[in-house]
Amino acid sequence: MIRQKIVAGNWKMNGSAESIKNLVDGLLKADQSNSEMVVFPSFPYLHLFSTLCGNSDLIKLAAQNVSEKESGAFTGEVSAAMLQDFDVKYVLVGHSERRSIYGETDSIVALKVQSLLKKNFTPMLCIGETLEERESGQTLSICEKQIQAVLDLVGIEAFNNIVIAYEPVWAIGTGLSATPEQAQEVHCGIRSFIAKSSESIAQRVQILYGGSVKASTSHALFAMPDIDGALVGGASLDAEEFLEIVKAAG
Ligand code: PGA
Repeated sequence: MIRQKIVAGNWKMNGSAESIKNLVDGLLKADQSNSEMVVFPSFPYLHLFSTLCGNSDLIKLAAQNVSEKESGAFTGEVSAAMLQDFDVKYVLVGHSERRSIYGETDSIVALKVQSLLKKNFTPMLCIGETLEERESGQTLSICEKQIQAVLDLVGIEAFNNIVIAYEPVWAIGTGLSATPEQAQEVHCGIRSFIAKSSESIAQRVQILYGGSVKASTSHALFAMPDIDGALVGGASLDAEEFLEIVKAAG
């Protein structure tokens, strides 16, 4: 099964109108490729980003978060319906920073996935273990538990429209990437777990790796059979470096 690779840049809470203009200018110099380039700017810059991209479909626009609520008195939140006013394709859910800093539980993450699917977005579901969990041999069981909460709410068919990002918490922003072999082992485990519900969906679902991905480490990661791209934080803030990663994805 050939799965299209995705290289996604999570800009987190970085950038200004000025710096984003420069970054998008740089990214629009990319050559056409077989992989999909995705960027997650923060909410205030979604419109600017679309405007800067004009008619180009080189970069897919994405959002970093969504509320699990539909509308109403939820100050500071952004609903899935609001995101429909932008040209957004993917939305991150369950990023470890949301889970650990903002207390998002597996059940909130599942509700967010559900609200996105209702509005035809593709949730990019982030999962991954902490260092302590890895060291106590719980890596796969943690990933499975995080996926199971979503499966229980939306069912296996929904995974036709969900992308998974495996991001070991200890590798995010630390410069300590998982080795290609370590990542492959977990990706293969995640795919086998999904295969228990549907073999065909398991073969189709794209599983990205995230955690300190750089141009220099991306080739070896992408050579692994179950790694279908990358979710990139720090290195996505440098257009040249990010485009090198997109190139490595082929
Ligand atoms: P990093 O971030 O590449 O800076 O480790 C990855 C992420 O948080 O998605």
